[in-house]
Amino acid sequence: MAFTDGQRVALMPPAQDHKRLRAGDRGPNTGGMGAAAPAPGVLYAGLMVTADGPRVLEYNCRLGDPEAQAVLPLLQTDLFAVLTACVEGVLEPSELTWRSDVHAVDVVLVSDGYPGAYPPLPDHKAALAAADRVQFQGKQYRQDIAARALAREILCAGRLTYKSAGVDIGAGDAFVSRISALLRQRPASVAVRGGLGGFGGVYDLAAGAADVRDPLLVAGTDGVGTKLKVGVRPAGRLGRDLVAMCVNDLLCQGGRPLLFLDYLAAGRLESAPLDQLVSAVLDGCRLAGCDLLGGETAEMRCVYSEGAYELAGFAVGVVARAHCLPRPDLMRPGDSLLALPASGLHSNGFSLVLLDGLQTQLSAVMAGLTAAGVVARPVRARCRVGVLISGSGTNLQALIDYAGRVDSSAELALVISNKDGVKGLERARAAGVPCQVIRHTAFAGREQFDLAMHAALEARGVQLVCCAGFMRILSARFVQLWRGRLLNIHPSLLPAFPGLHVHRQVLEAGVRLSGCSVHFVEEEVDAGALLVQRAVPVLPADTEAQLEERVKVAEHAAYPEAVELVASGAVRLGEHGRLVWRH
Ligand code: GAR
Repeated sequence: MAFTDGQRVALMPPAQDHKRLRAGDRGPNTGGMGAAAPAPGVLYAGLMVTADGPRVLEYNCRLGDPEAQAVLPLLQTDLFAVLTACVEGVLEPSELTWRSDVHAVDVVLVSDGYPGAYPPLPDHKAALAAADRVQFQGKQYRQDIAARALAREILCAGRLTYKSAGVDIGAGDAFVSRISALLRQRPASVAVRGGLGGFGGVYDLAAGAADVRDPLLVAGTDGVGTKLKVGVRPAGRLGRDLVAMCVNDLLCQGGRPLLFLDYLAAGRLESAPLDQLVSAVLDGCRLAGCDLLGGETAEMRCVYSEGAYELAGFAVGVVARAHCLPRPDLMRPGDSLLALPASGLHSNGFSLVLLDGLQTQLSAVMAGLTAAGVVARPVRARCRVGVLISGSGTNLQALIDYAGRVDSSAELALVISNKDGVKGLERARAAGVPCQVIRHTAFAGREQFDLAMHAALEARGVQLVCCAGFMRILSARFVQLWRGRLLNIHPSLLPAFPGLHVHRQVLEAGVRLSGCSVHFVEEEVDAGALLVQRAVPVLPADTEAQLEERVKVAEHAAYPEAVELVASGAVRLGEHGRLVWRH
C-alpha cells in the first residue's frame, strides 16, 4: 500500500494478510483473517502466491483491511497531515516516518459458517473485548497470524541464534578439533569406512568379523550415571569405565567388541575434564580392542549447570551364532557360580553410596567380599518340594521343568505315586528326581497310607507338598500335619465344580468359561485359599477330552507360578485360612 498525492508515492510498510480461514493456510478463502506488518515480500496491490508464482489480484484506491489495521499503528507521522498532503499534492515521502521497533498484528474473530452464510453476532459489543475473552457460539479465529513473519524477522534481525539460546558453537568446534587431534593419534582399524570422528560411521562387518562364522551382532548401552557425583575417581577414568560397562554387556552374550560410540553432554564444553573424558574413552576402546566409530557432543546450558556433564555410549560386537551366551539349556541346579573379586568400586552401586552416604561402609563391604574370594555355590537355599501323583503326571512335568530353571526357588526332592507303572514315574526317573511307589491298597485305612507318605516325605526333607493329579482324598491327619505346606491343583475355577468328572460337570452346566485353580489344601475337599487361577474358554463343540486338554495347558503355567509364590516366601497361609502376602 502506498500514500500518493497523484505525483509522488510514499510506500507504506508491506503487510501480510492471512486469507485462509484456518491455521496453516488451510480452509476456504476469506476477506482476511488477520494481518501483520511489517512483513517482507509483499507490496500492495493485493498479490497472491500461486503454484505458478505471485499474481496480482487487485489494485485498490483505498486502504485494505485488515492490512490497514496492522500498518497504521506503525505510522509515526500524523495520519491527518499525510492525508491532507495527499489531497493537496504536496506529499513528501521522505518525511513519513514509521516505527521499526514494534510489530502490529490484528486477529479477526469470525462467526461459525464464515466465509459462507453465517448468523449475525449475538452481541456485537462482545467483539470489542480482548480476543481470548470474546465468547460466542462457534467462534473461530486463527492463532498463527504473523507467526511466520515473526520467525523470519527474528532470524533476520539475528535475535535468535544458538549463541542467544546459550549454545556456544565456537566452543563446540574447538572441542571437536581437540578430540580430532586425539583420534589421529590412534588410527582406525581397516573395518572403519570413511574415518573416525563423525556423529556416526560405517563399519565393514565383512572386514571386522571375517573370522566369525554365522555372525550375530550384539549391542549394549550404558552411561556413567551417578558415579559422576561420587568423585571417587578422576573424571578421565570414567571414560574408561563407560567403555568397560558397555563391552562387558557384550561379553556376557559372548560378543567381541567391534565399535563404540559415545555421547557427551555438558553445561559448558570448555570445561577441562571433558578432554580427559574423551581421551579415556579412547583408552577404553584400545583396551577393549574396538574402534571409537563416532560420537555426539552437545552443549546444553539449559539442562546441565556449569561444570555438570553426562557421558553415555553404546558398543556393538559380534558373536558366532553357536557361541552366543547365555546357554540356559546347559545350566543345571548344582552348577558352580564363579565370581572374580573386584579391585574396588567400579561400575555399579553408586546410587546406594550417594543415597545413604555409606561410602566408607560400602568400601568395607567390598573389601570383605573380596577377601571371601570365589563364591562356589548359590547362596540361596531352595525349597524342597515333594509331588504326589496318580497318573500321567503332565503337571509333574511342568514342575520338573520349572524346578530346573536357574531362577526357580524350588527343587524337587521326592515324587510319590499311589499307583505303579504310571507315566508320571517315568517322567520323574528321566529327570533324576527320587521317586517312590506307596500303594494305598497296601494299607488298612486312609490315615495309615497317608502317614506312610508323611514318613517318606519327612525322610527326604520335603518342605512343601504338591498334589498333581493325586486322585486320593487326604486324611484330616495328613492335612493337619502339612497345613500351609500342602498344595493341590484342580481342573476348574473353584469354588465351582469341585470333586470328580469336572469337565463333564462343566459341559453339562453349559458355562462358557472354565480353567484351573491351585490352592492350599484344607480338610474339606477342593477347598482352601486360592493361590493362582487361570481361565480358559469352553467352546461350543468341546468334548470332555478337548476341554481337559485346554485346561491342562493352563495348569502347566499355573502350578509352577503358585509353587514359586510359596517356595519363594512371597505368599503363605495365614492362621485364618487366607493368604498372607509378603510386601
Ligand atoms: C489335572 O487336570 C489335575 O487338575 C487333576 O488331574 C489332572 C492330572 O493330570 N486333578 C484333580 O482332578 C484333583 N481333584 P496330570 O497327571 O497329567 O498332571
